[in-house]
Amino acid sequence: MKIYVTRPIPEAGLNILRQTYPHFTMNPEDRVLTRPELLAKVKGLDGLLSLLTDKIDGELLDAAGPQLKIVANHAVGFDNVDLPAATARGVLITNTPGVLTEATADHAWALLFAVARRIPESEVFLRAGKFQGWGPLMFLGGDITGRTLGVVGAGRIGQHVALRSRGFSMRVLYSDEVANLNLEKEIGARRVAFEELLQEADFVSLHVPLLPGTKHLINAAALKKMKPTAYLINTSRGPVVDEAALAEALRNHVIAGAALDVFENEPAVHPGLLELDNVVLTPHTASATIATRSNMASMAANNLLAGLRGEKPPNLVNEEVWEKRRQIS
Ligand code: GLV
Repeated sequence: MKIYVTRPIPEAGLNILRQTYPHFTMNPEDRVLTRPELLAKVKGLDGLLSLLTDKIDGELLDAAGPQLKIVANHAVGFDNVDLPAATARGVLITNTPGVLTEATADHAWALLFAVARRIPESEVFLRAGKFQGWGPLMFLGGDITGRTLGVVGAGRIGQHVALRSRGFSMRVLYSDEVANLNLEKEIGARRVAFEELLQEADFVSLHVPLLPGTKHLINAAALKKMKPTAYLINTSRGPVVDEAALAEALRNHVIAGAALDVFENEPAVHPGLLELDNVVLTPHTASATIATRSNMASMAANNLLAGLRGEKPPNLVNEEVWEKRRQIS
């Protein structure tokens, strides 16, 4: 079996691959492969372990060839994969759900605190030698305890972000197509329309997948509905937010601040955001803990091996391919 890993991943995952396929190949450099490099590398593969930075589309699947069985994506999100194109070609696609829920929820809270209490901004001030003593007007931020948290998308990660609010006696509103009864029972969270959430929440935290219907969910109109004292947190996918509209809203204090881990055109960040103090920016590191990334790597590797063995991978996202294979055999 010919296997390729597009960038070094934690050893835990590589060890799993090595045990069965000691001679698998990997991009040895810690960088994203260029499109021509990736297209060349996938030729003749049986299995590909990809990252969210690799675009897996019809062109790439055709470049790999009809023997390609599985693409194991080292991420929970799989908007980098053209799922219909993979399904049409009978290629299994897997992701890494669950193992990064807690780390990502923790990071959303880290961002929430960082922006509300102006941590990065005040640290830069201090390091620059500008701290001349305690001041009653220095770095005043927003309150967290007792305020309203608005969770957009109450799936795995959104739910865990909401549950963490217990420590801060917050009122929790959420918007989702389906009710999360567990959240309602556990913390009295209330499901409301998206508009109401925007109008009521002091913190709006985004946890929706990137789909045609969620692109630019947060646009100029949505930002205008938020309170001028509210903060936006995004640990989902960059294009869920219209970055130009957000930069404009932050510059004009339409909202108080934003904290973003993901960007519309990663790795580029809208230049308007980079100029502002009321935004906290991290480089798509919400799942970046040692243990979480090891678990993601192991999960992706196990999915890949299962697919190559002809078994149903544990985290298959295009079930149709499996169903079709079953019907044929
Ligand atoms: C990270 O963004 C992931 O989808 O795993």
